[in-house]
Amino acid sequence: MKPPVDTGADLAGRGGALAQGAGGFSVRAMSGDDLDLVMAIEERAYPYPWSRGNFADSLAAGYDAWIFADERGWIGYAVLMWVIDEAHLLNLCVPVELQRRGLGRQLLDWLMADAAARGASSLMLEVRPSNLPAVALYRGSGFATIGVRKAYYPAGALREDALVMARSLGNG
Ligand SMILES: CC(C)(COP(=O)(O)OP(=O)(O)OC[C@H]1O[C@@H](n2cnc3c(N)ncnc32)[C@H](O)[C@@H]1OP(=O)(O)O)[C@@H](O)C(=O)NCCC(=O)NCCS
Repeated sequence: MKPPVDTGADLAGRGGALAQGAGGFSVRAMSGDDLDLVMAIEERAYPYPWSRGNFADSLAAGYDAWIFADERGWIGYAVLMWVIDEAHLLNLCVPVELQRRGLGRQLLDWLMADAAARGASSLMLEVRPSNLPAVALYRGSGFATIGVRKAYYPAGALREDALVMARSLGNG
């Protein structure tokens, strides 16, 4: 399925964020209508995926939620929450079949540029230490580990810590 890509209208209420990423992809706000496809991608990409309710709650709370697309269809999505001038990356996902082609880095670059342009001083996130691709992506994009949240994530019968990572976006 290749849903239509709206590069303009949905962004109007989002502070005039960029409609076109540097890599030639388009960006629009996620809506409730997207959640069937988001969940299909999410459940293949994560061993412990978000529930549909997690996404619905994020949309209801007014978090930034973006769908990225190019001529192939969807190339990823992301959810960010703001706390004052700190942006928190809650979810960043590239469909399994499109991973390892530079998309994750391009999407993260866009997210950082967009948050910086809208006044964020820093971008924070939590990640499983076992998620080696994500940890490598964030380290390579200038994130430093600033803390550990003990037993933060479910991991079978046990729990896994979260690395708390952050990088400055140059404001303030
Ligand atoms: C993490 C994720 C977004 C990376 O997206 P991607 O498009 O595959 O990443 P890219 O191709 O842009 O790679 C960027 C960097 O990430 C790291 N990386 C990506 N995949 C990797 C892998 N399988 N093993 C090791 N490092 C990897 C590398 O440092 C890579 O840089 P390099 O190509 O110069 O070596 C993607 O793997 C994903 O969606 N995973 C499932 C969801 C998830 O875990 N999200 C993060 C939650 S915190």
